[in-house]
Amino acid sequence: IDPGLDLEAEIVRLKKERNAVLLAHYYQEGDIQDLADFLGDSLQLAQQAKKTTADVILFAGVHFMAETAKILNPDRIVVVPDLEAGCSLADGCPVDRFRAWRAKYPDAVSITYINCTAEVKAESDYICTSSNAEKIVRAIPEDKEILFAPDKNLGRWLEQKTGRKMRLWQGSCVVHETFSLRKIIALREQHPTAKLIAHPECEEALLRMAAFIGSTTALLKYTQTDDAEAYIVATESGIVHQMRKASPHKTFLEGPPEKNCACNECPFMRLNTMEKVYLALRDLEPRIEMPLDLRERARVPIDRMLALS
Ligand code: 13P
Ligand code: SF4
Repeated sequence: IDPGLDLEAEIVRLKKERNAVLLAHYYQEGDIQDLADFLGDSLQLAQQAKKTTADVILFAGVHFMAETAKILNPDRIVVVPDLEAGCSLADGCPVDRFRAWRAKYPDAVSITYINCTAEVKAESDYICTSSNAEKIVRAIPEDKEILFAPDKNLGRWLEQKTGRKMRLWQGSCVVHETFSLRKIIALREQHPTAKLIAHPECEEALLRMAAFIGSTTALLKYTQTDDAEAYIVATESGIVHQMRKASPHKTFLEGPPEKNCACNECPFMRLNTMEKVYLALRDLEPRIEMPLDLRERARVPIDRMLALS
């Protein structure tokens, strides 16, 4: 790429030329968020992907999100900035092990978090996201056992909210498990009025301390409607960009990781850069493609989720 190229202007121009829509998750870097046609949590992005009439969907997020967009919109071209942008939850739940797990409990219903591969979706009864998971759990008849995969922290939080015991897959998110309770407690001492808000992928001990728990969109909305002056935000730090934009007079403290590292940035989400967004639009590559049979089987539990949302 010519170093003198105005990437922002080029992306805007190419979006128009290609009749493309840029969907972005809140964990993207601020520059990408600012250029997005639609920003949202996993559920809203899936709903938006289903609705779009654009010819091209450029999905600035991680692989399972773009895959979901393709499943819901098979006739559109779906491109991503970087095919390597995966997710530790999806990686920790390979389809062969998932299939074997399900086979052990043939009468159980499986609810699978959207953070998984299309292959695992195809083997699931229902998909959920953090914003509709409670509703989906409550929709399952009481006499049915539930298998919940792959995030054990979200699963445990749902058990507590619904009073429903489930069989949990033991997966976790590398980002949400890095927050340091010790440092959060110290931060609260320095900022006694700051409220701790957290994503349900965080560990149980942290969630117990949180004033509010929700999906990325729910956390953002909370900071807009709640009257506190300051927040400690225990989720990927990208969302703080929108929180600051929406409430410039408030203070947002990023949840501190245990080590002195940028571990509160998702290493997968942050593979996406402005350069790669530009190249994906210019070349219409790399694309998300999958066999018809897989796409159709994976769509069934996603449609069940959307119908209940
Ligand atoms: P939500 O945006 O649905 O809260 O999901 C967070 C996440 O970890 C996405 O990978
Ligand atoms: Fe996956 Fe965690 Fe990154 Fe979300 S933040 S994409 S759950 S690794």
